Parts: sequence; C-alpha cells; structure tokens
Amino acid sequence: MVLALIAVLIASAWPAAEAAATAAQPAAACQRRCGDVDIPYPFGIGRGCYLYTGEGDVTFGLTCNLTADGTYRPFCWEYEVLGVSLRRGQARVRNDINPWCYNATSRSMDAQSTWWWDVSDSWFHVSDEDNRLTVVGCNSLAYVTSVNETEYMTGCMATCPSVGRLENGSCSGMGCCQAAIPRGINSYWVEFEEKFNTSGAVAGFGRCSYAVLLEAASFEFRTTYVTTGDFVESTGGKVPLVLDWVVGKETCREARRNATAFMCVSRDSECVDSRNGPGYLCNCSAGFEGNPYLLDGCQDINECEDRRFKYPCSVPGTCINTPGGFRCSCPDKTTGNAYYGTCEANKSQLGVHIAIGVSVGLALLAIILSSAYMIQQRRRLASVKRRYFKQHGGLLLFEEMKSNQGLSFTLFTEEELEEATDRFDERNVLGKGGNGTVYRGALRDGRAVAIKRCKLVSERQKKEFGKEMLILSQVNHRSVVKLHGCCLEVEVPMLVYELVPHGTLYQLIHGDGAAASHGHGSRIPFATRLKIAHEAAEALAYLHSWASPPIIHGDVKSPNMLIDDGYAVKVSDFGASTLAPTNEAQFVTLVQGTCGYLDPEYMQTCKLTDKSDVYSFGVVLLELLTCRKALNLQSPEEEKNLSSHFLQALGENRLEAILDSQILGEESMEVIEQVAGVARQCLEMSGERRPSMRQVAEELGRVRKLSRHPWRGGGGRGSSDELEKLLAGRSPNTYSELQVSNGYLSLNDSAYIGIQSPR
Ligand SMILES: *[C@@H]1O[C@H](CO)[C@@H](O)[C@H](O)[C@H]1NC(C)=O
Ligand SMILES: *[C@@H]1O[C@H](CO)[C@@H](O)[C@H](O)[C@H]1NC(C)=O
Ligand SMILES: *[C@@H]1O[C@H](CO)[C@@H](O)[C@H](O)[C@H]1NC(C)=O
Ligand SMILES: *[C@@H]1O[C@H](CO)[C@@H](O)[C@H](O)[C@H]1NC(C)=O
Ligand SMILES: *[C@@H]1O[C@H](CO)[C@@H](O)[C@H](O)[C@H]1NC(C)=O
Ligand SMILES: *[C@@H]1O[C@H](CO)[C@@H](O)[C@H](O)[C@H]1NC(C)=O
Ligand SMILES: *[C@@H]1O[C@H](CO)[C@@H](O)[C@H](O)[C@H]1NC(C)=O
Repeated sequence: MVLALIAVLIASAWPAAEAAATAAQPAAACQRRCGDVDIPYPFGIGRGCYLYTGEGDVTFGLTCNLTADGTYRPFCWEYEVLGVSLRRGQARVRNDINPWCYNATSRSMDAQSTWWWDVSDSWFHVSDEDNRLTVVGCNSLAYVTSVNETEYMTGCMATCPSVGRLENGSCSGMGCCQAAIPRGINSYWVEFEEKFNTSGAVAGFGRCSYAVLLEAASFEFRTTYVTTGDFVESTGGKVPLVLDWVVGKETCREARRNATAFMCVSRDSECVDSRNGPGYLCNCSAGFEGNPYLLDGCQDINECEDRRFKYPCSVPGTCINTPGGFRCSCPDKTTGNAYYGTCEANKSQLGVHIAIGVSVGLALLAIILSSAYMIQQRRRLASVKRRYFKQHGGLLLFEEMKSNQGLSFTLFTEEELEEATDRFDERNVLGKGGNGTVYRGALRDGRAVAIKRCKLVSERQKKEFGKEMLILSQVNHRSVVKLHGCCLEVEVPMLVYELVPHGTLYQLIHGDGAAASHGHGSRIPFATRLKIAHEAAEALAYLHSWASPPIIHGDVKSPNMLIDDGYAVKVSDFGASTLAPTNEAQFVTLVQGTCGYLDPEYMQTCKLTDKSDVYSFGVVLLELLTCRKALNLQSPEEEKNLSSHFLQALGENRLEAILDSQILGEESMEVIEQVAGVARQCLEMSGERRPSMRQVAEELGRVRKLSRHPWRGGGGRGSSDELEKLLAGRSPNTYSELQVSNGYLSLNDSAYIGIQSPR
C-alpha cells in the first residue's frame, strides 16, 4: 500500500521535474492533420497545441476551415497553408496575384496599382532562395520594395515585341519577368509603374498586368497568360509562396543559455542558426528524423529499409542499422565494397593457398624467433635493472612515494638520462670529483639539469640510497641545490639536480685551473664574500635542523658550493655524503676527496657529526678571506694547510699577513676580524666547542648587517654576546679565545658598557 503510494508520488513528480528543465510541450491530443496537410509542432490548431509567440496575424496557430469546395484546409490568418517542412524550417502558403487591368468602360486603368504585405515583427520571413517577384504582362514594370521604401527596392519589366516570340516555360522578359528579392525581408510592397500600362493594348493581348511574389519552382509561364489574360483564372488567383520561420529570435548560443525556453528538446537534435538574421531552428541530427521540437521526437533512421535508393547497400552486402548510421559489409568469404555491390568471392586456388600459407608460416617463424630472442634479451636487461633498483632501495622509495602523493620526485629511467645527456657525451661533462662525474643534461620537458653519476657505493649505502634520496628531495631551500630525482636501475645510482649555471665557489675564488695559491678571487668584493658565506651557513643550518637525525653534508668545501645568478650560493652534493657510514671503508673515500677540509676529530673517531660540517665550513670561510686553497702543496711546509696556517697567523697576531690584500682596503679591520673570529671558532679542535651551524649563520648575518650599516653596529651586539656566553658556558678556555678573535670585545659586559657609557 505504502509502496504503491510512493510509486504514484514518484510517477507524478517525474514529468513535472522534466517539464521544469525543458521548454513546454504541446498536449498529446492535438489535431495534427487538416485535410491533406500534416501540421507538426511548433504549428498547431488551438491553444496549447502550437508555439505561442504572442498575438498577431501570422503565427504558428492555424485554423482548419471548411472551404467552398467542401474540403478542410488549414489557414494561417487568411493564407491557406499548403504544407510545413520541419527540415527546412519553411511553410508554403497561397499568395494572391495582384492584377492591374484596363477598364474598357471607364477607359482607364484600375485605380489601385499597389499592394502590400507586412509580417514584420513576426517569426516569419519571405524566403529569398525560393521566391521571385514575378511580373506577367506586355507593357509592365513592377517594383517590390519594403513597406517604408527605405530598405530595398527591386523590380523587372516585361514586354511583348510580338506574339511569335513568346515561349511557354520561359520567363525571361518576353511577357514575363522575374527578379530575385533580398534576404530576410518580412514586409513588401508591390507597385506598378503607371507609365507602363495596358491602356493602349493592341489586339491579341490581354488588358491586365500581374505582379506577385511566388515560389519560383512551382511557376511555369504560359503564353496564354498574356494573350488571353487567364493567369488569375487558371491558378485560382493564388500561387504558392515560401515562408521561412524560426522558433526563437536569439542565436543558438544565446538560446541554449535558457533551458526552459530552448526549443531543441529532443535527443539527437541540433540547433541551427537562421539564415535570415537572429533566430534559430532545430533539426534532427544526421541519421535521425522526426520532430526535434518534441521530447524524443528524433528517431533513428533505419537506413536498411531504404537500401536500394537513398542509402545504397547493394544486394550481396549485409546491411546493419546503427544509431545515426548504418554499416554495409560483404558476406562471409567475399571482399569488396558492399555499398556498391562489388563483393567478390575470395581467391581459392590451391596453389595460391599453399604459397601464401608457406610464406606466411616462414615469416611468422622468423618473427617468433627474433622476438623470442629480443624478449629474452630484454628480460635479462630488465632483471638486471630490477636487481639494481632493489639494491638501491628502490622498492622502499617506491612505497614511500606511493603513500606521499604530491612529491616532485621522479624516478628516471636509464634511457631518459641517456637521452638527456646525449649518451653521457664527454662534451656534457660539467665536472669530475671524488664522488662521481657530473653531466649537463636536458630533460624531455625542457628542464636543464645536472646529472651526477656516483662512483661505486658500498653495500650498506646501496640499501639506504633510495630512502635518503627521498628525504633530500623534500628539502626545499633557496640555497640548497634542488634534487629532482634519481635513477636506481643502473649499477651505480645517478642523481638529477637542478642546473646551476655559473660554476663553483672554488672556481670563483681560485679560477678554473688555477695553480697559483691566490689571486683570482681578489676581484670579489668583500660584501659578496660575506653574502656567500652567510647564505651557505644558512643552508647548512637549515639542513642540520630540518630532519632528525640531522642531514649532515659531510663534504663541505668550496667545490661543492655552486654559484647562481647574482652570486647566490647553492650548496650541492648533499646526500651522497650523508650516506657516509661510520665504518672505515667510507673513511678512506672521504679522505681521498676532501683533504684540507676534514674535521680532525672525525679523523680520529670516525664519527661524522654536524660539527664536522662546521669545521669544513670554517675552512671555506678562510678561503673566502684569504683566497688561498685549503691545501697548497707547493707552499712552504707551515703554509701547506690553510687552517693551521691561519690559526698560527692568528696566534702570532699577524692576521693581516694572511688575508687577501684587496679586502684589507675595502672593509674595516673590525668587521674582518669578526669574520675571522667566526672562522676561528669553527676550526676548534673539539667539536663540542664549535658553535652550531645556526649560531654561525646568525653571527655572519649580524656581521653582514654591521658591514652594511657600520653606524648601527651596536644593534647586533646582543647576538654576539649570546654566542660568546654560550661558548663561555662550555669552557672557560673558549672565552679567552673569543677575546683574541674578537679583539675589540672586552672581557665582560660591564667593561663593554663602560666604553659606551661616558656620554
Ligand atoms: C476560419 O474559420 C474561423 C472560424 O469559423 C473564422 O474566424 C476565420 O475567419 C476563417 N478563416 C478563413 C481564412 O476563412
Ligand atoms: C469599370 O468602370 C466602370 C465605371 O467607372 C465600373 O462601373 C466598373 O465596375 C468597372 N469595371 C471593373 C471590372 O472594374
Ligand atoms: C522603416 O525603415 C527604417 C529605416 O531603415 C527602419 O528602421 C524601420 O524599421 C522600417 N519600418 C518598417 C515598418 O519596416
Ligand atoms: C503554350 O501552351 C498552351 C497550352 O497550355 C498553348 O495553347 C499555347 O499555344 C502554347 N504556346 C506556344 C507558343 O507554344
Ligand atoms: C498609361 O500610360 C500612358 C503612356 O504610355 C500614360 O499616358 C497614361 O497616363 C497611363 N495611364 C495611367 C492610368 O496611368
Ligand atoms: C527563460 O525562458 C522562460 C520562458 O520563456 C522565461 O520566463 C524566463 O524569463 C527566461 N529566463 C531567462 C533568464 O531569460
Ligand atoms: C537539417 O538536416 C538535414 C540533413 O540532416 C539537412 O539536409 C537540412 O538542411 C537541415 N536543415 C537546416 C535548416 O539546416
């Protein structure tokens, strides 16, 4: 019971919902035929049966009247409707012939020589394609103009030089003429030129001229129209006229916006813009027919039912109807074009069969053999790749990437990287180092990258590699080279970094192949050196604090600092070194690459900590200050190692002797000494006593500010004090050392305040 009620509710709600979304539909019970004429919607008889466009004379609403001859005929106002075409958007009506005659009794022409017809503002136009102004007469000139004579005017003249020259079926000036009319008119005015009249009609010609807009295709001139003047009698005084109509006055684009008013409601229908100006029509799509103005009005055409003429599919062919079309195919064992009936039986000679069979068989065999070989090769290669991928922690990485969608980390294939580097062409080598070779490359998406091919890695490293890569790829700092991805399916992993174009800090300071211990870098202003040092310190500090356990660079040195536009520094080669385990094998590799930068404590304990980076950074700072190499084998014994040379000079109070001469003239000794002080702290023997990278960065930042605005030097003092205290808290020793390096600082705060206070 309840269910039935619900069903009724749904059923009654359904059509309402549909009606809300589409244009209103005519009632089902409407009269759709009058006499012999079909009357499809939007036309109709009676309210609710046609498209209502407002009151007016010419509308879609027709009447079905009994006419004098006893048949029912549809009328549109006073025009009899001969037919409606939905396809063409046209209706044919019967139009009056306008005669202008000579009255023998009154010996004058009829008074009325003009007629007009006006449906402007209606939804109908006079079709210019189908209709012509037709003038029949022997001395007749008629015009058709717009009702207010401002929009257009056209006309033609018919004469009769002699009866013998008139021809049935020819309307070309002899007794009959036609003129085309402009497109899109919905009003007209026909007018006879009074100077050309039949008042002087000679014997053998009628006394009337006729003018009418009519459907050209249904008109055929007869000589009797002018000789006996029976044009009106023989046609009943009316001839067909074709009207174009529209169902909306907007363009299709505009009409689609209002679904409740849009008339093309049927599935498989389309909207067509009217050729007469703004307005549209609907049409069933190709392959469908019916009434596009009714829901489900357009139905698939079953082309197969008319396969002989309209949709050819000649007899042996098999015709299959599809929505909107049809297929015609040759029967089994025949080939050809079924549409034109050219199906032919397949060749069936035994010899041909055997020959074809044998050659196909041989070809197949060859293909199978070669592809089997290729597949085997490919499998072997793939298994090697898989093994490497697994070895390098690829699976781990893959899992991680799956669970962490928005990553910008890519696992490159070997082919991609080969393509990017032109098969690792020598010309693309950017640099070679202890850890591997770096190539310049261009990815398929156009990104320029640096691709690093690592040197052999240890077993332990291999396992962790992928995971570590992933961590590094998430590091996002403007002074850290961005890791785009890696390739694990090769024997030694490859890393893909962003390309930093201007070489390394090492090259900047020492020149490319510079053998000289110093000189090249002298061109760099002190402020730039300080900026580079500060940014690099920031980057290292960021990495030390970004993850836990900290990411340790392990190989901080000037060749690992890349220089970007505007002397922006980018720390590179992270990762390969964080993998550094605490075993001796790795110890050896590291010593190879980075003598001169190596934390002495690390050399003793083999334990890599963040303070090892601090030490190495101290050496880089020295390079910036002195423009000397970290290790200079050509120099005298005591100058070979830059850090010990520096510490010695500092201890003997001859800092100036070791500094790059250029910066001496450029910057106050105060500032330089502060930077030297930071370097001094970084180079502490005991890692414990070195400041953290964060503290170094802050101190360099403070010095940078001071150097830019010397008069505000006091402002940064607090942080210096903090550093001082921090270090002092660890060991009393540090405090005095700090005093040495920061020469102008006094032993305690009160003394410092004492300097400031005399004001
Ligand atoms: C058709 O019949 C209606 C109603 O009888 C009448 O009002 C109308 O004038 C007629 N139309 C024509 C063209 O005869
Ligand atoms: C001709 O003119 C006469 C007188 O002016 C008039 O009575 C008659 O109706 C006219 N004939 C026609 C066919 O108009
Ligand atoms: C008469 O002509 C003017 C100017 O071309 C036009 O704007 C107006 O609509 C016309 N009126 C009619 C009734 O055709
Ligand atoms: C044209 O056809 C009519 C009959 O329809 C005929 O009486 C007339 O003689 C024909 N005219 C010519 C010039 O053949
Ligand atoms: C008919 O044309 C003649 C000249 O061909 C002219 O004199 C006469 O006025 C015209 N008749 C009318 C009624 O316009
Ligand atoms: C959409 O068409 C309906 C029916 O013609 C009309 O009432 C309504 O105002 C139109 N809406 C818009 C936004 O034009
Ligand atoms: C409607 O489509 C048919 C064929 O699908 C085409 O011949 C006809 O011209 C179209 N009508 C209009 C008004 O575009």
